[in-house]
Amino acid sequence: MSKRIEAKNLDIFYGDFKAVEDVSMTIEPRAVTAFIGPSGCGKSTFLRSLNRMHEVIPGAYVKGELLLDGEDLYAPAVDPVNVRRQIGMVFQRPNPFPTMSIKENVLAGLKLNNKRLGASEADEVAERALRGANLWEEVKNRLDLPGSGLSGGQQQRLCIARAIAMRPSVLLMDEPCSALDPISTLAIEDLISELKNEYTIVIVTHNMQQASRVSDTTAFFNIAGTGQPGKLIEMDSTQTIFTTPKVQATEDYITGRFG
Ligand SMILES: Nc1ncnc2c1ncn2[C@@H]1O[C@H](COP(=O)(O)OP(=O)(O)OP(=O)(O)O)[C@@H](O)[C@H]1O
Ligand SMILES: [Mg+2]
Repeated sequence: MSKRIEAKNLDIFYGDFKAVEDVSMTIEPRAVTAFIGPSGCGKSTFLRSLNRMHEVIPGAYVKGELLLDGEDLYAPAVDPVNVRRQIGMVFQRPNPFPTMSIKENVLAGLKLNNKRLGASEADEVAERALRGANLWEEVKNRLDLPGSGLSGGQQQRLCIARAIAMRPSVLLMDEPCSALDPISTLAIEDLISELKNEYTIVIVTHNMQQASRVSDTTAFFNIAGTGQPGKLIEMDSTQTIFTTPKVQATEDYITGRFG
């Protein structure tokens, strides 16, 4: 299920503004890749271009090539809805649908894609996704209560369950723990370590400890100044980035001597 992403010379625009310039990278399957870098360097923008969420913003577009297991995700015949089904996304703030129950939340993505499920099949899919997100034991007796009644950390795991219910091959996470307490953060990090056996995972984080704990590979992005495009500066094994980076700016950033 897990697939490889290759970006080749990707430029990303918001109208006339080039937010990200000339990024080429390979994101390996069955591994966690972390994106780090200062605010505004284009981490979220690049992440959203990976599943064609970027282009939903009016005037936003991408130049260059993006391949999923060798297939061009921006080819004219490709349906972006299908891309987003294969490449799921989890956001910074847990965003369960407030009026839906826990179970309805897990199944929401499937419903949106007009997938019809019988009652017992729906129960199975919901249980599998909730177990996959490490939430089943905590919610199995209240599946019909509102998702908004869960704690922040539980809501974020519910959003992960909603994403994996779609059986994606890639999971993109944009600062998934930044609204969570340390215990919930560790729960999500444990979950990420488990999920990488099945999925290609990309996580944006401002937390250096988190990047070094959960990721196999780290990509450092930087920006030369306001109005300049963000660029990929260095990408290597997380171990190398955090011990012997090749670029001075990477070292300055990871040691907190930045700006
Ligand atoms: N919807 C948008 N329309 C126009 N410009 C945008 C939009 N979203 C982001 N940008 C701009 O693109 C650049 C990159 O922003 P982005 O949000 O990708 O950075 P980031 O690295 O994720 O930052 P942070 O760490 O603060 O989340 C910034 O200059 C930002 O102002
Ligand atoms: Mg961001």
